[in-house]
Amino acid sequence: MVVFVAGATGATGQVLVPLAHEAGLELRLHLRPATAAKLASEGSPLATDARARVLDLGDRDALIAALRGCDAVVSLIGTMKRRFAQGDTYETSDVGTTRALVDAAKAAGVPRFLLLSSVGAGGGGAYLQMKGECERIVRESGLSWAVFRPSALASPAKGAAGTHGKRWVPPGATALTAGLRTLPGVGDLVARYGPIPIEVVARAMVRTVTTLAPGGEGRIVEGAALWEVGA
Ligand SMILES: NC(=O)c1ccc[n+]([C@@H]2O[C@H](COP(=O)([O-])OP(=O)(O)OC[C@H]3O[C@@H](n4cnc5c(N)ncnc54)[C@H](OP(=O)(O)O)[C@@H]3O)[C@@H](O)[C@H]2O)c1
Repeated sequence: MVVFVAGATGATGQVLVPLAHEAGLELRLHLRPATAAKLASEGSPLATDARARVLDLGDRDALIAALRGCDAVVSLIGTMKRRFAQGDTYETSDVGTTRALVDAAKAAGVPRFLLLSSVGAGGGGAYLQMKGECERIVRESGLSWAVFRPSALASPAKGAAGTHGKRWVPPGATALTAGLRTLPGVGDLVARYGPIPIEVVARAMVRTVTTLAPGGEGRIVEGAALWEVGA
């Protein structure tokens, strides 16, 4: 199975890419041109990785060419408010890239689309509204789709420092969530809103991509189910 990973350079991407490789998936890793240049100047192996596809997602023809022959797109792309000062917006980073990837996936005949979203997508506030819009684009694509809705992502204790750094949550919080999530009564709330290790989310995405049937199947993976699929 050939999978195009958008957001491969991010905190989640750096965890998902080796897991997907170990699972036997053939990967194409998207790099933005500016990021590829930065990685090359730092001597990062990713800059010379044969799996890298360096292009701007706004370049529709290049994107379709990169997606041809793929069985799935996995999008881990996203920005955050503190990057707005560097020119990112929710429209350009999240919504616009989802639209571009879905459009190109359809044009290239890619049957599956997996999106990393967030708990509460579609709820109040600009971030959750934006996540809801990304999900709508994917759900209405006509492709088979899966949407993943984690709460706060927790990085591995040890691991490569990434271009975007580690995702930090208070020490012990993830272990507490893992321990309390099976408790009757409160377990589902804990599983849904407690911090979750990035590996669990990444593993859930890798497992789902291989089991999602082509032809329009749709899945929302969140709360207890997300922990179980990624266990
Ligand atoms: N962090 C959390 O606690 C959390 C919780 C719930 C949901 N989420 C969601 O999970 C996803 C991944 O989070 P993360 O923490 O792994 O993200 P991250 O470390 O900030 O990585 C973001 C990725 O998106 C790419 N990107 C941003 N704007 C882009 C654009 N315009 N075109 C192409 N690529 C672009 C970045 O590429 P460059 O390297 O080129 O910048 C990077 O690979 C996001 O959608 C986020 O909203 C995160």
